[in-house]
Amino acid sequence: MCTEFAPAKINLSLRVGPLEDDGYHPIDSRVAFADFGDVLVFEPADQLYLEITGPFAGELPVQDNNLILQAARALARTSGISKGARIQLTKNLPVSSGIGGGSADAAATLRGLNRLWDCQLKLSELATIGASFGSDIPACLHGGWLRMRGRGERIENLPPEASFAAVLVNPGIAVSTAQVFGRFDQRLAPEQFGATEHQNDLSQAAISLCPQIADVLQALLEICEGANRPIMCGSGATCLAGFSSQDGARKAARDLQENHPNWWIQPVTIGQAPPL
Ligand code: C5P
Repeated sequence: MCTEFAPAKINLSLRVGPLEDDGYHPIDSRVAFADFGDVLVFEPADQLYLEITGPFAGELPVQDNNLILQAARALARTSGISKGARIQLTKNLPVSSGIGGGSADAAATLRGLNRLWDCQLKLSELATIGASFGSDIPACLHGGWLRMRGRGERIENLPPEASFAAVLVNPGIAVSTAQVFGRFDQRLAPEQFGATEHQNDLSQAAISLCPQIADVLQALLEICEGANRPIMCGSGATCLAGFSSQDGARKAARDLQENHPNWWIQPVTIGQAPPL
């Protein structure tokens, strides 16, 4: 049996270029990971089984195209292995929320089954498998502080920065990454979108699909400390604000939750692995 942690991926900045012939957009993004995420447990079995529990299990039915099952099948195929596994996912991260939950789960599956099945593939080989079905999977395999370019498959280590306290907020609306990129291609005028911020090129497109993101950014702006403006994460709808202390982040999270009982609000530390 082995356990893998699948932390939330945070795009601290996200630049997006125009659509290319392969149907993807070149990105340039600085990424770090939270100390909060999904948990996966792997046990030997005769076939592949996936069980999902946890706060967001209801939003993620077990379907054949689940990224975890795709990852397991791709790893088995590449390594010529015909073993099964019982995979238990505790889904703590909101689904389709811009913080890479599905990609983190797929990356954790590649790592976990590489160990369980003793495939002995290197991280770079796992990343190549992962990149074939999810642009963010190589980054999630890599972890740490990094820069992603290309579709996301070109990973560069960045010198680790000091970890920082933050609050993640999601208004409870799933946002499709493909739709956000599609809206980005329409290049709607920025003034159509209300609240804007400048570290994530997908914000305006995401807000046009899910206006509640502007409400989240505004609520975070009112409560955050210091000069750092709140940012939207990935393709949304989760947003993040940084705080100077964990106490400050926890208090802000409590205050926000009181005013917005239906939002998912999670104090986290960015850039620090959780205690094992
Ligand atoms: O790779 P992934 O499956 O996560 O991407 C979901 C969708 O987001 C893609 O089908 C594509 O439409 C869009 N995308 C993109 N450019 C990227 C990453 C994703 O256009 N760099």
